[in-house]
Parts: sequence; structure tokens; C-alpha cells
Amino acid sequence: MNALGLYIITLQNNIFSGLFVGQNLITIQHIDSTNNFLKDLLSNSKPVPEGTVIMAESQYAGRGQQQNRWHSEPGKNLTFSILLKPNFLPVSQQFDLTRTISLGLINALSPFLGEKLRIKWPNDIYYGDKKLGGMLIENILQGSQIKNSVVGIGLNINQDNFPLEVANAVSVKQILHRDYDLKFILSEICKNIEAVYLKLKSGQSDYVRRAYLDRLYWLNEDKKFGVKGQVLRGQIRDVTESGLLVLNHNGTDARYDLKEIEFLNQ
Ligand code: BTN
Repeated sequence: MNALGLYIITLQNNIFSGLFVGQNLITIQHIDSTNNFLKDLLSNSKPVPEGTVIMAESQYAGRGQQQNRWHSEPGKNLTFSILLKPNFLPVSQQFDLTRTISLGLINALSPFLGEKLRIKWPNDIYYGDKKLGGMLIENILQGSQIKNSVVGIGLNINQDNFPLEVANAVSVKQILHRDYDLKFILSEICKNIEAVYLKLKSGQSDYVRRAYLDRLYWLNEDKKFGVKGQVLRGQIRDVTESGLLVLNHNGTDARYDLKEIEFLNQ
């Protein structure tokens, strides 16, 4: 245990098959948030290699989207952050990184969970109508470039039940009725994220955008949405380059950002 009361184990990683994502894996027993830890590491130490993964067994202040907390039962789920350095990506196209990570997760989990896996715009991972996980991507910019990207991912794997306030959550165990080895699933995720990331890096953003849209929850379905306190019926048609949701309502397309629209599941 170090002076801060944390157990830090650095693993010589030889189970991960990719080139760089997950090759430097740091596992921590108990931390506020793996995103915070990685950001502190970036500002305090020698250069941190791209692909470094910080995995926590438990987080006491895990952070989610829109200032929410991320709750996860200690030791049961995946809570980790990956360092990427997408300096090839203009800031105006940073949503391509969200697409890349979402797709990497879908590709990694599809062999277990199949076709019911979807990406709920902008970046939740859904199984049917329930949330299996999500991500918090924090980009550190330098001019018009992304210098570092801290990609925090939380996925429910072996948790048996969830508190009422997250009644919409589901775990892999609740779906498949068995426990999974967290490091094995992490290695599959790292491999798949790396594969999509390298496609993006080699200029295949069209592929990434199309594949993201192919797995989008509620795409072209007639559904209800909340906009400015009103209920609208419409169909999701697209996601713009910068990540806005395109909704068709009464024959007209309108674009929304995350704060402007709510999905209303009946
Ligand atoms: C969401 O609200 O859907 C995003 C959840 C992201 C949670 C992960 S857990 C690992 C990393 N560290 C954090 O504090 N948050 C992310």
C-alpha cells in the first residue's frame, strides 16, 4: 500500500493481444475515479504511453455523463480508463472518437450478447431497452488538436441486482446467467477498440460513421421524445458529423444536442 492508502499493482501484461491498447495496464483497488487518476498522471509524471489502461476494482466517486455519479458494486464490474492520443483528429470531428469507442464495445460484446446490443445516442451501450454501460470521454485540447483523450468506460458485468435509482441498468450476468472474468472481457474490449481506432486513424471515418449508425438504438423507429417540455413523435434519421441527433418530426428534420432532447420509453 502506498502513502495515499492505495494498492497499486502494475501488471506485466501478456494476455492482451493488441498492439498498444491495454499493453500498459495499471490495476488499482480503490480510487475516486479512474478518469481523475489518469488525468493526474498526465499532468504529474513522465509521458504516459498511448493505450495505457487504468482499471479500478472500486471507485468511490465514479463520474458519469452530465455530472451524474457512476455507481458500480466493488469487484463486480468493469470500471476503467484508456489513454488515447488522437492528434490526427480535428476538434470539430471529436465525435468520431465517441463513435469509435462505442463501436469497439459493441464489437467486443457482440460475440456474447448478439444483435440486441445497441448504441443509444450519443454513447450508451444498451441491451434491449436496458443500459449495460456508458462512457465519459474527456479530451485535453491543444489548439485545434486533441492532445490527450481520457476514455472512461463503465460496464456492468457480474452485478446481480441494481438499486432502484438505476432500475434501467442491466448486467451481462443478468442476461447470460453466469459470471465472466473481468480481465478477459477487458482484453476483448481493448483489442476491439484498438482495431476501430486504427481504422479511424487510417482515414476510414466513413466506415466508422456508417457502422455506428447501423447499431443505433431506435434508428428509423417511430418513438416518443421529450423536447422543451413537450412530447414529440418522430424517427431518428441520422447523427451529424459533430454528433447532433437528427430527428424527423412531421416530415421535417431537426437537430438536437444532448441537453435538448430526452428519449421517452413508455
Ligand atoms: C455514463 O454516465 O453513462 C458514463 C459512465 C462512465 C463511467 C466510467 S467508470 C470508469 C471511468 N471513471 C469514471 O469516473 N467514470 C468512467
